[in-house]
Amino acid sequence: MQAAKQLAIIGRGKMGRLVEQLAPQHGFQVALLLSARDNADGSSITERNFAGIDVAIEFTTPEAAPRNLKQLARARVPAVTGTTGWLGSLPEVTQAVSETGSGLVWSPNFSVGVAVFRRLTGLAAELLRNADQYGAWAWEIHHDSKKDAPSGTLLRLVQDMKERGYSRQIDIASNRAGRHPGTHEIGFDSATDTITLRHVARNREGFAHGALQAARWIQGRSGVHTFEEVLFGDAGS
Ligand SMILES: NC(=O)c1ccc[n+]([C@@H]2O[C@H](COP(=O)([O-])OP(=O)(O)OC[C@H]3O[C@@H](n4cnc5c(N)ncnc54)[C@H](OP(=O)(O)O)[C@@H]3O)[C@@H](O)[C@H]2O)c1
Repeated sequence: MQAAKQLAIIGRGKMGRLVEQLAPQHGFQVALLLSARDNADGSSITERNFAGIDVAIEFTTPEAAPRNLKQLARARVPAVTGTTGWLGSLPEVTQAVSETGSGLVWSPNFSVGVAVFRRLTGLAAELLRNADQYGAWAWEIHHDSKKDAPSGTLLRLVQDMKERGYSRQIDIASNRAGRHPGTHEIGFDSATDTITLRHVARNREGFAHGALQAARWIQGRSGVHTFEEVLFGDAGS
């Protein structure tokens, strides 16, 4: 039997705890778990503290993630991050990863269903790009403790639509209420009909399983990758 891979988890919040719980199903042993108190400014992420760690999974906050990811790259620990709302810092994180030859998978959404949903909404946008009779909307709802709005996933879906040639206005809206684990909807409406594409997450386990799948994939690879590459072998549109 293969020995369990040693996993570090950065962020002991809702996602970090779920990753901890599901890690053994993916052949990981959780060897290190860092919370905000243990790791101010990413200072606990050092080569020495991470000796023997095969891979790290990071689910923290938009403020903490860039520093954590740069520290992981400097410590040459392959990493997976699901934290959202930090993408403005992707260029500097990418530079740190390429300078050290480390590896990173990032995604605002580690659900396999959402990855398929992205492909479907991209295709719909492409097919309707010249159909001026249709207007488009993009909407999401999440639990009331989610900090960023619109969600990173909704922004990515809208970006996908634009990249597929849909240049008309897309009306964007968000709600934050209760315990919703995440619903995303893309719609097209004309005088004669409506097309609605909707993904509904039932719980958070799908995100944790996806992040753990990515953590197995990134070992032995270098550079910055998206979850789409893990699933489909290409970065999509
Ligand atoms: N990609 C996906 O599929 C996906 C799915 C769900 C959520 N998310 C995103 O993942 C992130 C985390 O979500 P969550 O629901 O787990 O949030 P959460 O329950 O609020 O947990 C965030 C945790 O990060 C910790 N933290 C903050 N700074 C840290 C640091 N420097 N080092 C270590 N830990 C630190 C916080 O610790 P304290 O409690 O001590 O402050 C907190 O426990 C959010 O950005 C969310 O939008 C992504």
